[in-house]
Amino acid sequence: MYALTGASGQLGRLTITNLLTKIPANQIIATTRSPEKLAEFAAQGVIVRPADLNDPATLEPAFDGVTRLLIISTSEFGKQTVQNRAAIEAGLRAGASHLFYTSVPQADSDLSHWLLKEHAETENLLRDSGVAWTALRNNAYTNLLPGILKSLIDRNKLYVLGGDSRPGWISREDCARVAAAALIGGNHPTGPLEVTGPEALGLAGLTGRLSDLLREEITVQVVSGEELVTRLKAKNLPEVAAYSLVRIVDWLVNGNFSGPTDVVERIAGVKPAPVDEFLKEFAGSKDTEAFVPGAGKAS
Ligand SMILES: NC(=O)c1ccc[n+]([C@@H]2O[C@H](COP(=O)([O-])OP(=O)(O)OC[C@H]3O[C@@H](n4cnc5c(N)ncnc54)[C@H](OP(=O)(O)O)[C@@H]3O)[C@@H](O)[C@H]2O)c1
Repeated sequence: MYALTGASGQLGRLTITNLLTKIPANQIIATTRSPEKLAEFAAQGVIVRPADLNDPATLEPAFDGVTRLLIISTSEFGKQTVQNRAAIEAGLRAGASHLFYTSVPQADSDLSHWLLKEHAETENLLRDSGVAWTALRNNAYTNLLPGILKSLIDRNKLYVLGGDSRPGWISREDCARVAAAALIGGNHPTGPLEVTGPEALGLAGLTGRLSDLLREEITVQVVSGEELVTRLKAKNLPEVAAYSLVRIVDWLVNGNFSGPTDVVERIAGVKPAPVDEFLKEFAGSKDTEAFVPGAGKAS
């Protein structure tokens, strides 16, 4: 029996969809805070159960019968370690012999980092669990790129914080393929797996690629965090969202990323989606706010 938490989220749904192509529906236990959102999977025979990582009493009954458990991380910073500890303990009590967890690149490289800290703490809990474990260290989602670029580009200029990190962009769909394949796969070595796309590219590097695709010159302007917040607010982003995006941008340009690795091909047996696919999506939806109309490159 294969169980997952967070089943109604985007990654959760994609993972179930992948599992359904490989195993019978009645071997999948989809746990979520919102079982009603998974009616279409329940209709196919998937076992849907309520579970809330903030309510430990819900977890053991939800995992009843599980052999391999995938814990999908939440974005509730400050609560994640407590949530994951509850899930790990309940999974073990329910009989899980292999625990999987969606982590972040190089989770153990900076224990004071706002994003890495709780993922590293969770990996330590997994290490101490006494059973096999796999941390799926999913790199930055390429799916987020069009939205990020739209927020950062203004009149053919990318406003960004200084830093030369190069994330190994991976699509959420490829992360789900890896999660499903790992969950039902053979014996993976215990430990972390750096799950990346096919190439590592910084935001500034992506801009050059985008310029070529658009036939428009996009230049890069490095600004301070405060200036970026001001610019984002001027683009009608609420203050909280602006600060949160700046934190993400700081991670993208200064974070510790691995890659590229061959994990997608090795575990899921497919080639990961190229970054250009998502740049083309952005290029296809270019709007007048981000670009100066008619400023195309001479051909
Ligand atoms: N690599 C990246 O670039 C990147 C980017 C964004 C997020 N992430 C991480 O990857 C995770 C999955 O991504 P996604 O795109 O599927 O996110 P999403 O669509 O926003 O889904 C959020 C997930 O969090 C779960 N969740 C929240 N609070 C919970 C609670 N109290 N108990 C149990 N589950 C809870 C939700 O489960 P239910 O609603 O079904 O209960 C859902 O699966 C995120 O939660 C985040 O930790 C990674």
